Amino acid sequence: MPEGRVDHALLRRLAEAVGTEHVFADRERVEPYTHDETQGLSAWPEAVVLPADTAEVSAVLRLAYEAGVPVTPRGAGTGKSGAAVPTHGGLVLSLARLNRILEIDRENGFAVVEPGVITEDLQNAAAEQGLFYAPDPASRGSCHLGGNIQTNAGGLRAVKYGVTADHVFGLTLVLADGSVIPAGGKNRKDSSGYGLVRLVVGSEGTLAVVTRAVLRLLPLPKSRGLLLAPFASLPAAAGGVEAALCSGPTPSALELVEGRAFGFGARIKETAFPFPDAEAHLLVEADGETPEAVAADLERIGAALLDAGAIDVLTATERRRMEELWAVRRAIAEGLKAYTTYSGVDSVVPRARITDLVRLARAAGAKHGLDVVSYGHAGDGNLHVNLLRTERQKTDAEWRAAADAAHEDVVRAALSLGGSISGEHGIGVKERRLLPLRHTPEAIGLMQRIKAAFDPKGMLNPGKVFP
Ligand code: LAC
Ligand code: ZN
Repeated sequence: MPEGRVDHALLRRLAEAVGTEHVFADRERVEPYTHDETQGLSAWPEAVVLPADTAEVSAVLRLAYEAGVPVTPRGAGTGKSGAAVPTHGGLVLSLARLNRILEIDRENGFAVVEPGVITEDLQNAAAEQGLFYAPDPASRGSCHLGGNIQTNAGGLRAVKYGVTADHVFGLTLVLADGSVIPAGGKNRKDSSGYGLVRLVVGSEGTLAVVTRAVLRLLPLPKSRGLLLAPFASLPAAAGGVEAALCSGPTPSALELVEGRAFGFGARIKETAFPFPDAEAHLLVEADGETPEAVAADLERIGAALLDAGAIDVLTATERRRMEELWAVRRAIAEGLKAYTTYSGVDSVVPRARITDLVRLARAAGAKHGLDVVSYGHAGDGNLHVNLLRTERQKTDAEWRAAADAAHEDVVRAALSLGGSISGEHGIGVKERRLLPLRHTPEAIGLMQRIKAAFDPKGMLNPGKVFP
C-alpha cells in the first residue's frame, strides 16, 4: 500500500498542474469529499484536487505516483458501497470539472462525454435529438456518468436495455502512473485484442481513471406508459414478477416495491402514494413507438398481474403523473437514509429466484431482530434489501453486530440461489470482506494480478473491492 504524504511540495506542484483554486486541504472544503451515500462511512483525505481535462488528470496522477500518495477517484459521490471514500487518506481526485458533453453523433449513434456529466443531462441532450441514453439509475439527477461506468450502474430500465456496460464502447483511461490509454471507440463491433473497456467498467476506480467515454445512443421511444399493481403480500408481488415477464412484452422497467419503501420515498417528497396499505407493489413501465402499442403491452402485463393476484391495476400514461410516481420511487433510498438506521444489501439472483430471495431476506432480518424493507429492480432479479435497526438493538455495538450478521446472511442466501453480492452498487469497502463468498481464491488472485498489471504500486483507490 502507498504510504506517501501530501506535503507542501506536492501541494505546490499540484497547484501548478491544475491551478491554485482547484487544490485544497482545509477541513471545510474537504468535508464533502469524506463520504458518499453509504450510511455511516467516512474518511478524510489529506487534500482534494480537481483537474479539468485528461492532461491535468494525467499530471495529477503522475505527481501522486512519484510521491507515493494514494489517490481515490470520485464522481458525484452518490455511490452506496463506499468506493469513493478515501479510506487510505492521500488525495481525492474529483472528476467534477470534466463535465462536458463533447458530441452527440447522430450518424453513428454515440455520445462522447466527459465523466463529470450528470446522467440525466445526457439523457436530455440525447432526447432533444430524438435519441435515447437508456441506462437510468434511480439517482440520475445527481449521479455522474463516470461513476455509472465505474460501478457498472444498472437502474430502472436495465430489464429491457441492459446495464451501463452494455452501452459503453470507448474509454480514455489514465493509469496510476499518468499514462493515457485509449480503449475502444465508435465501432459497434471490435474483436481486436482484450476488451479493456469492459474490464474497466465496474472496476470501481481501482484500475484507471476514465476521462472520456463513448456511449451508445438508441432511437428515443416515442411513447411510454406506467402500470401500478398493489398486492396484499410481498411474496404475492414477487410472484407477479414472473407473471409479468412471461406475459409476452418486455417491460422497460419492472420494479418490486414494498409499501413501506414507497412510504419513505413519499415522505421525502411530501406526497402520498396510491394504495398505501398494500404490502407490496409492482411498478411496470412499457415503452414503444405508439401509444396504442404501449397500451396493448400494458394491458397484457396487467391481465397477467391480475391473474397472479394483484389487488388492482392502475395505469398512467400522462407524463406528469408518471413522473410523480417515478419521483417517489427514485426517492426511496434518500428516505431510508434520512429516516432510518439501516444496512443495505444490493442482492441479485437469477430472476426466477426472486420469490425465494424475498422469503430468505425476511427470515435473515427476523433471525437477527431487524426489520426488512425491500425494493428494487425485480425484473433483473436485483433487490435492494434494507435491514433496519429496531428497538431490540439497545446499543450501537448491538446494532452493528446484528446488521453485519444479517447482512452476511442475506448475501449467503442470494449466493445459495445462484446469485451474487451486488447487482449494481459494487463492492467498494462495504462488501469487500464478503468477496471470497462469491469468488474462488483463484478467481480473486486473477483479479489481483489484473489490478497489478494496471497499477503495480497499488496507488489507485487502495482498500477497495479486495478483501
Ligand atoms: C435505487 C438505488 C438505491 O434503485 O439503486 O433506488
Ligand atoms: Zn437500484
